[in-house]
Amino acid sequence: MQFQTFFSQFLEAFLENALTYALFAFPFFLAFWVIWKKKLQSIRIQEVERANIHHFKHDLLHSTSTFMVFAILDVVLVYLQSKGYTKMYYDVNQYGWIWMVVSLGLLLILNDAFFYWSHRAMHHPRLYKFFHRVHHESTDPSPLTAFAFHPSEAVVEAGMAFILPFVMPLHLGVILTWQVLDMLNNVLGHLGYEVYPKGWTKAPILRHITTSTHHNMHHQQFNGNYALYFTWWDKWMGTQFNDYEARHEQIFERKNIPSTPLINTASNEAQTSKKATVTVNIQQKVYQFETNSPQTILQSGLAQNIPMPFSCQKGLCGTCKMKCVEGEVTMKRNQALGELELKAGYILTCQSLPLTDKVVLQKE
Ligand code: FES
Ligand SMILES: [Zn+2]
Ligand SMILES: [Zn+2]
Repeated sequence: MQFQTFFSQFLEAFLENALTYALFAFPFFLAFWVIWKKKLQSIRIQEVERANIHHFKHDLLHSTSTFMVFAILDVVLVYLQSKGYTKMYYDVNQYGWIWMVVSLGLLLILNDAFFYWSHRAMHHPRLYKFFHRVHHESTDPSPLTAFAFHPSEAVVEAGMAFILPFVMPLHLGVILTWQVLDMLNNVLGHLGYEVYPKGWTKAPILRHITTSTHHNMHHQQFNGNYALYFTWWDKWMGTQFNDYEARHEQIFERKNIPSTPLINTASNEAQTSKKATVTVNIQQKVYQFETNSPQTILQSGLAQNIPMPFSCQKGLCGTCKMKCVEGEVTMKRNQALGELELKAGYILTCQSLPLTDKVVLQKE
């Protein structure tokens, strides 16, 4: 294939992907996050908003690179199709209408299984930094987060769309329908507002379909609710958050439901940690609080309603990263910060215990 042909096909595929995304993500973003934001507050999943302009810019930038990766894969797929390597077809009569419906169902089930397992794999500490960290920058996701992936994750996400046309006969209309459903599901999963009605998580059949709360909890708490379209893999593998159904119902009642504990507070670091006064500077606002030994700086801050960013609380994702500009801390675990960051004074607040009476942190 000549470079010029490749480039014009790439551009066409990129624009197609980006426009479809814009058609879904932007109206939902504008409606829920801008125009009717106040009116819709009652169905907001996370009552305290933590997303800001930096997250929106970050998500848009990474969505652009995702659609570039998708476009390259699309061009390769179309090329292989033109050479007769795939089983894609255009005439409905070739396999009939029943196969059209069955193949769409199969696509959803197979992609859901693929997503669950590849998603869990990307949460493995050795892979997380290289694949999935970018997507988890937003702990309070918006529709703009839906396709905000690192390019390496974008390749994984496109896996089924790339492999299945070689494995089973797929009508172009089925592939396009699947892409539209996938886009809608992704945007709703990152909406930040619950649009699936009260009772959904208990209703027969419907309860097997993920809600907006389902994936939102994954962004908030990190180590559960990995599924894409259906809840069954999380249920079978014991990775569904225990309070998922209660959280969904809570949105419609706004009762206080005790959260699933995110971290074990008991730790033998108690002896090394000190009670300290911590000052944190987050987006030009200064907060001060006392730590409670043996809690980490993040735990103490959150207990006192300080809006500190966090996600995994396991030292993996780097969301809680801050620069320590005064004082000293010790970290229980670190799989997110590199040597240069450590030298520059960055710490993970979710893993940090103070070693001095005073600690000053800066969120950059
Ligand atoms: S919240 Fe993930 S590393 Fe601290
Ligand atoms: Zn994840
Ligand atoms: Zn997500």
